Amino acid sequence: MRQRRFVLLLFVLTTVLIVIVQCTQIQSSDPRGVAYAGSTACVKCHQDLSSNFAHNAHFRTSRDLLADSGTVRDGKYLDSLALPVSEFIFNPGTRVGIEKRNGSLYQVAYVNGREVKAERTEVVFGSGNRAFTFGFWYGDQMMQMPLNYLSRAHQWVNSPGFPDDQIYFGRPIIARCLECHSSYIEQKPQQPDGLNAEEQFVKGSMISGIDCERCHGPAAEHVEFHLDNPEEKRPSHMISYKDLPLSRRLDMCGLCHSGTEVQANGSKFAFEPGDTLNHIPQFNTFNGGEPDVHGNQMQLLKASPCFIVGKADCISCHDIHDDKPKNIALYSNKCMTCHEADNHPKLKGLAQAVLKQNCIDCHMPEKSSNVIGFQKSDSKEKIPYQLRTHRIAIYNDLVK
Ligand code: HEC
Ligand code: HEC
Ligand code: HEC
Ligand code: HEC
Ligand code: HEC
Ligand code: HEC
Ligand code: HEC
Repeated sequence: MRQRRFVLLLFVLTTVLIVIVQCTQIQSSDPRGVAYAGSTACVKCHQDLSSNFAHNAHFRTSRDLLADSGTVRDGKYLDSLALPVSEFIFNPGTRVGIEKRNGSLYQVAYVNGREVKAERTEVVFGSGNRAFTFGFWYGDQMMQMPLNYLSRAHQWVNSPGFPDDQIYFGRPIIARCLECHSSYIEQKPQQPDGLNAEEQFVKGSMISGIDCERCHGPAAEHVEFHLDNPEEKRPSHMISYKDLPLSRRLDMCGLCHSGTEVQANGSKFAFEPGDTLNHIPQFNTFNGGEPDVHGNQMQLLKASPCFIVGKADCISCHDIHDDKPKNIALYSNKCMTCHEADNHPKLKGLAQAVLKQNCIDCHMPEKSSNVIGFQKSDSKEKIPYQLRTHRIAIYNDLVK
């Protein structure tokens, strides 16, 4: 009798185990297809890289907070951002409350004291190094919330480009944003009747953040090979970024760091290292008109002698997997791999030690974007969006 019960128990346990194993296998299969392994697969052999990466701006640049069920699954992430409850005033009769309800963060529209609309935060854009944009689902469309949050100014602001005197819930977040800010989302096909003229997505299909395979290409074969051949220390089935020609290296970053003026063949999601962008001729050469500092790092760098003569590319200065905040002195060390600090005849008065600490403020000054600014509450004033220009040059106006 005892033995039969034991056998039965064993049977039940193995069935449960098989089901669990199968479920987790299904979950770990990547929606992009069998060629992709997913970034959790990289941890096993690239542990240091992966643990750093989880905290950096690329990986944190977007987050889908919803489970397929439609309830907030990732509320802890939202909590970790510590966004303050507050309100934004358009005019005396029109304001947006930022309110906690049922553990979620809502943006609530009030007109003349009456609540007219409330939407729950369901998607987050931005690592918050500078700013967050928020999204919610309207059917199968992803929509942008009226307000952004500026993390350095600690302020809720009207979303860039939105009307400055009314609350706007009507702007769809389109695939283009997601192509630069996430790793994948499944788009619904356009219906023949044209009813879904706006882009629609399959909810729950988004792969949040920019993951390993967005920059390194599909890696399932690489993973499989190295799992089967643990003694092999040379990389296999993997494009070596360092061996790519300069223009291809730049294009891999330029895919998302050259604004909207440069296009890839087909979906940006399918772009792999080694592919090339279609360069629109006027952006190949610097023709005097300054590209905006927002998003145009590639064009600006290409207009600099450090690139034209020195062939400096993005990784000459940026350690891509790092999550440590870098200070100006560390970046200045990168300059000094190619330059001498004492080559400053006009700056004789400045101590060498000071000069060496900060090449950046003089040669890559912060500039305000001309296309993006953030409207303050109860004001028509805008907070500028400031970024480092990547046109490395002599800015004489900065030196007295
Ligand atoms: C079973 C072990 C294993 C797994 C899992 C693994 N790799 Fe690797 N990978 C290696 C080995 C071994 C090398 C060569 C030594 C090194 O560079 O660390 C390598 C090298 C690399 C390189 C450098 C290639 C070069 O030539 O510069 C990249 C990029 C890379 N892997 C990406 C990934 C990504 C992305 C994932 C996850 C999708 C991943 N690896 C998962 C074992 C693995
Ligand atoms: C934003 C693009 C980008 C993302 C995302 C990215 N990498 Fe890289 N990776 C690079 C570049 C560029 C290089 C070459 C860096 C260099 O040579 O200094 C590189 C180099 C590597 C190398 C070989 C050199 C080294 O530093 O050991 C490995 C291994 C690697 N990446 C693995 C990963 C893994 C694992 C992830 C995800 C956790 C990841 N990468 C995410 C761009 C990226
Ligand atoms: C798939 C799109 C994509 C690709 C490819 C990409 N980036 Fe980015 N990158 C972004 C986005 C989006 C941000 C803004 C992240 C944020 O703060 O939310 C960003 C931010 C950055 C930052 C600022 C990080 C910080 O800490 O504030 C640097 C530096 C950077 N990228 C360099 C690179 C380099 C170098 C490459 C090529 C090896 C590259 N990126 C490839 C989309 C991309
Ligand atoms: C062509 C690629 C591209 C597109 C399209 C794009 N972004 Fe970005 N976005 C970037 C890059 C690169 C940065 C960081 C550096 C910069 O501003 O130049 C950034 C920065 C941001 C930030 C600030 C992140 C931080 O913390 O610093 C937010 C928020 C953001 N984008 C949201 C959006 C939204 C929402 C859309 C769609 C309406 C969008 N972006 C479209 C590339 C893109
Ligand atoms: C990969 C090497 C390399 C790196 C890294 C590099 N540069 Fe350069 N840079 C050059 C070369 C080469 C020139 C052209 C020198 C010439 O024409 O004699 C140049 C030119 C310049 C000029 C002169 C610009 C002009 O308009 O005449 C300045 C200023 C400058 N670099 C500053 C910097 C600063 C600041 C950094 C770090 C943020 C830096 N460089 C990083 C290689 C580099
Ligand atoms: C000569 C050095 C150098 C090169 C080359 C370089 N960067 Fe930067 N980058 C910097 C410095 C310095 C900062 C400012 C960091 C800070 O203020 O913390 C920066 C900041 C950024 C930022 C953050 C937003 C901003 O503008 O402040 C992004 C995004 C970025 N770089 C992308 C790129 C990309 C993409 C490339 C290649 C096209 C590139 N960088 C090439 C030095 C460089
Ligand atoms: C206080 C502002 C300031 C600082 C700090 C500064 N520079 Fe300069 N730099 C200038 C000015 C102004 C010029 C042009 C006049 C001159 O040559 O003195 C210049 C010229 C240059 C040139 C061109 C020299 C030539 O021969 O044409 C290079 C390269 C350069 N700087 C690199 C650097 C590097 C690398 C650092 C950091 C170690 C740095 N600068 C720090 C202001 C500065």
